[in-house]
Amino acid sequence: MENFDICVIGGGPAGYVAALKSALNGMKIAIIEKDKLGGTCLNRGCIPTKVLYSKAKFLNSLKSGVSGFHIDKYNYSYEDIINYKDEVVSTLVGGVSKLLKARNVSIFNGAAFIVSAPDKKNNISGVIKIQENNNNGELEISASNVIIATGSSPAMIPAFHIDHSNIITSDEILNIKSIPKDIAIIGAGVIGCEFANIFNEFGSKVTMLELLPSILSTEDKEISKFTNKILASKDIEIKTSIEVDNISAEDKGAIVLLKTGEKINAEKVLVSIGRILNTNNLGLKEIGVELDSKGKIKTDVHNETNIAGIYACGDIIDGPMLAHKASYDGIIASENIAGRKREKNYSVLPWSIYVNPPIGTVGMKEGDKELENIKYRVGRFSYGANGMALAMEEKEGFLKVITEEETGKIIGATGIGADMPELIAEITAIMHFNGTIKDAEFTIHSHPTLSEIVPEAVLDSIGEAIHKYNPRMFKK
Ligand code: NAI
Repeated sequence: MENFDICVIGGGPAGYVAALKSALNGMKIAIIEKDKLGGTCLNRGCIPTKVLYSKAKFLNSLKSGVSGFHIDKYNYSYEDIINYKDEVVSTLVGGVSKLLKARNVSIFNGAAFIVSAPDKKNNISGVIKIQENNNNGELEISASNVIIATGSSPAMIPAFHIDHSNIITSDEILNIKSIPKDIAIIGAGVIGCEFANIFNEFGSKVTMLELLPSILSTEDKEISKFTNKILASKDIEIKTSIEVDNISAEDKGAIVLLKTGEKINAEKVLVSIGRILNTNNLGLKEIGVELDSKGKIKTDVHNETNIAGIYACGDIIDGPMLAHKASYDGIIASENIAGRKREKNYSVLPWSIYVNPPIGTVGMKEGDKELENIKYRVGRFSYGANGMALAMEEKEGFLKVITEEETGKIIGATGIGADMPELIAEITAIMHFNGTIKDAEFTIHSHPTLSEIVPEAVLDSIGEAIHKYNPRMFKK
């Protein structure tokens, strides 16, 4: 039986990054993936949706016009767009495979089952069984350490009768070859809002049905309202505080029956109500890996489980289900296996939501429980007052920054506007280094750039934004 230093189970952004990093750390690695390398992010999530997002954004510019241009006629083929999306995906998936091979990582295609855990005290490796794809049979390998990185899948509810044809999840929607005349989206969270924006731009009549009183309910309230306003202004119908009773497939579509008795007909119904953890059939129970009350694998600050030598990363452990968080988890596990004690810390973890314009957030936001015991100030700056934003005709949006009153430290930021995720990247870096208002002020920003919004919003928290009139400061 071939023995490895680390066996990584799952080839998504947690697993493949852990494998690449561990190979750099000089380890002998096996990675087991039952589907495609790259996981949800590359194949069914972040990347393919961003191809559709950027095409939808381009289409929006064509439709809504750009000053000085008179576009009389344009045409597009959605099928070609899907083909381009597939090209991007296969380039990136191929790249991951090449990188792994170049670092001598052994790639196994199949489903893994942990037969026995490593026994660190007696220096005995764990055994992992692989049910190889394409009926290639079973094989076993052994490893001194195991990193579990099996991710998550779209949540299903029996009454929603997902048939993967007319009633679909985010997995299938990326592959439909033509734009549906109408689409009902159940769940107005991150996935629901991203697809509502995309399909609306491509001409579908979109209806969103959300159980809670607001869309994007975990975001800052102002951002949620602003996004609602933008989506509604594009004629997306948004119904909140709605209970869906059941969904049934028809020949040419589906019917969504609400608890009120109202029926909604649509060619496609997208169910985007959250994700479930891929923790079954791995042998976790058999070897005694502990789970928390939500079914997530319990890990310590090193991403090690209750069993020495077994690590877990990504969606299946605590923290948000985000690709970059998963990769960070992978690096933490990899570093600890290499003997460099590194503790994870999610307090400066950014995220983005690609509606048009996009949303970005990092750290704390107004309404968070943690802010209740902190004296803080909020600064804001709008895109309408930034030269580059006006030049780009991107005047919609704003950035809000939270600073701590006592120390001037930047402790959170959220905003919506062109390239907001990139602006948030700068604030993330400042926060990573415990930066303050002064750090943002004295970082020289190139002009003209959207990034100039960052110091202005930060300084506004103390009423000192340069390009903003603050009536409080100059009372006559
Ligand atoms: P989500 O948790 O963001 O949103 C699900 C929504 O469905 C919630 O608003 C919830 O109230 C609603 N809901 C639940 N049950 C419902 C029901 N029976 N009827 C109507 N509404 C119902 O989950 P989503 O959008 O599926 O995304 C899953 C995960 O994927 C997220 O946690 C996110 O972290 C990740 N993701 C991240 C992206 C990004 O970073 N840009 C993009 C897409 C997904």
